[in-house]
Amino acid sequence: MSTALIVALDVPNANQIPDVVKQLPDSVSFYKVGLELYTAAGPAALTFLKDAGKKVFLDLKLHDIPRTVARAVTSASNLGVDILTVHACGGRAMLEAAAEASKNQLDIVAVTVLTSLDQTDLETIGVKRELRDHILALGKLAVESGLQGLVCSPLETRSFRAELGSDPILITPGIRPAGAAAGDQKRIATPTMAAADGSSYIVVGRPILEASDPGLAAEQIIAELQATETVA
Ligand code: C5P
Repeated sequence: MSTALIVALDVPNANQIPDVVKQLPDSVSFYKVGLELYTAAGPAALTFLKDAGKKVFLDLKLHDIPRTVARAVTSASNLGVDILTVHACGGRAMLEAAAEASKNQLDIVAVTVLTSLDQTDLETIGVKRELRDHILALGKLAVESGLQGLVCSPLETRSFRAELGSDPILITPGIRPAGAAAGDQKRIATPTMAAADGSSYIVVGRPILEASDPGLAAEQIIAELQATETVA
């Protein structure tokens, strides 16, 4: 199994997308569009990417009643989205509805617990389980409900692989090449570590977008991934 790169297009409007994509090598084929850009630009955020033959990871973290989420999945599918995120804590019926609505046209992956939350935050929303147990339980629920995989922190990849086997897609943000600034990321791993632990995709934003030579930064990360054997 090899690990691929998804570049996080964390830009405020769609006008900036062509500039970013043109700076990066053609081998970067997957881009993440998140809440900021999608809220600003809507489906227009995807037009340039799809026209350029790129794949789109639409990170909207859907969490609503099953019917609404199912309909949003259909809308995303019609836009040509390749991977879409939902919150695992939307529950089994919502996750099953999302999986069914995807009609295998796109992959749905679940976020378990936001990495901004800690054990105390869980207590304040009434969750008594240990954070780690809660993350694993939600991950298992998502995959049992028919989703294709999960977004997880680099610290969780190995246990999810051990628990769920090699099939699920595991997407890992919080990646910093050795020597890069951590920024606001606390739980970080290098591309090599994430690949060795069994990530299917790493999501990288600032270490590429803010590099003095973004194209070279992306090429170095891809080379690092290609040189790494995964455990899964
Ligand atoms: O710039 P950086 O490489 O930290 O960007 C990582 C991307 O992944 C951002 O778009 C960020 O919102 C997203 N993300 C994250 N940590 C999570 C979930 C998503 O950094 N736990």
